[in-house]
Amino acid sequence: MKVNGEHYRSIWWDKASGEVRIIDQRWLPHEFRIVTLKTLDEFATAIRDMWVRGAPLIGATAAFGIAEQMSRDSSDASFDTAYDVLNATRPTAINLRWALDRCRAALMPLAPADRAAQAWQLAQEISDEDVEINASIGRHGLDLIRQIAAGKPEGEPVRLLTHCNAGWLATVDWGTATSPMYHAHEAGIPVEIWVDETRPRNQGALTSWELGEHGIPHRYIVDNAGGHLMQHGLVDAVITGTDRTTAQGDVCNKIGTYLKALAARDNGVPFYVALPSPTIDWTVRDGVAEIPIEERDQREVTHVLGIGEAGAVMDILVTPKGTEGGNPAFDVTPNRLVTGLITERGVCDASAEGLAALFPDKVN
Ligand code: MRU
Repeated sequence: MKVNGEHYRSIWWDKASGEVRIIDQRWLPHEFRIVTLKTLDEFATAIRDMWVRGAPLIGATAAFGIAEQMSRDSSDASFDTAYDVLNATRPTAINLRWALDRCRAALMPLAPADRAAQAWQLAQEISDEDVEINASIGRHGLDLIRQIAAGKPEGEPVRLLTHCNAGWLATVDWGTATSPMYHAHEAGIPVEIWVDETRPRNQGALTSWELGEHGIPHRYIVDNAGGHLMQHGLVDAVITGTDRTTAQGDVCNKIGTYLKALAARDNGVPFYVALPSPTIDWTVRDGVAEIPIEERDQREVTHVLGIGEAGAVMDILVTPKGTEGGNPAFDVTPNRLVTGLITERGVCDASAEGLAALFPDKVN
């Protein structure tokens, strides 16, 4: 998508230099910085410390990390080390393990001398596929938005609420939850987006930045505003992303998603989840019981990052000194609260049957 009118992906392989570059999301929305990742440690740090973030982008970054490592040492032991180091960075988003397993399946049968070239090609393939998947999610989501628009007075915008950043910054391009919004905007359907702030890391600011770069009307709201807006008929639908969806359609996403789904159910607002198939964990059924929830540094809760009057980006303490914070980064929304899953193959019920009907080739 575009930054200052120029097209960017969130990660790309610069074939001329052989280097991998990312948009360093730690500084957004205040500063736009591009960073080159050169070593396995840098790839791991970039994922762990959220220079890159969002389930699909984490997967693509891991694949490029493997390629980088294979260029240095393509032995079995080197692959295993890279797999373990990258896999340990973040526990919840399944795309990480999905990408690493795909690398393992493609590379390990090869002679070591052939692995590096294949690893680069595969990382590029995973990136390109992500873009295609998200574009397709956008087209299916557009149909839903069109239906909502048809039921509203002419010219009145479709009001959508989203949580966290499931935008192009969280993927390689398009985003998942935002892709239908971008497609609707391009199709001339007026949309207005309620953007949840999404404490503690304020990923909503990233969503606001993206939407702003594309001229999509939006308003940044505190996390607790959603229920009130729904009670007053100001939300036509919720669309969120997901970090891991179970084989029966339970959705694990950024902390606070579950509360939005509860409010949506209480107010009869449709609650959709944009779901690329690599985010489905076919080995897991009960999300609440089985999905590991990342517990992040409490400093993310006790401090907020912002830009001061003088223009410097700074971290500010918001609690009494020494206050203990708790920071579960994700929660699980049970399938009963999800109206539908918007996948690259179409929209389905959030159920084992719904997913199996769309992905018969992937069910275990
Ligand atoms: O902790 P983050 O910022 O990596 O969490 C991101 C999310 O929860 C997104 O909503 C999710 O990855 C879907 S992104 C397309």
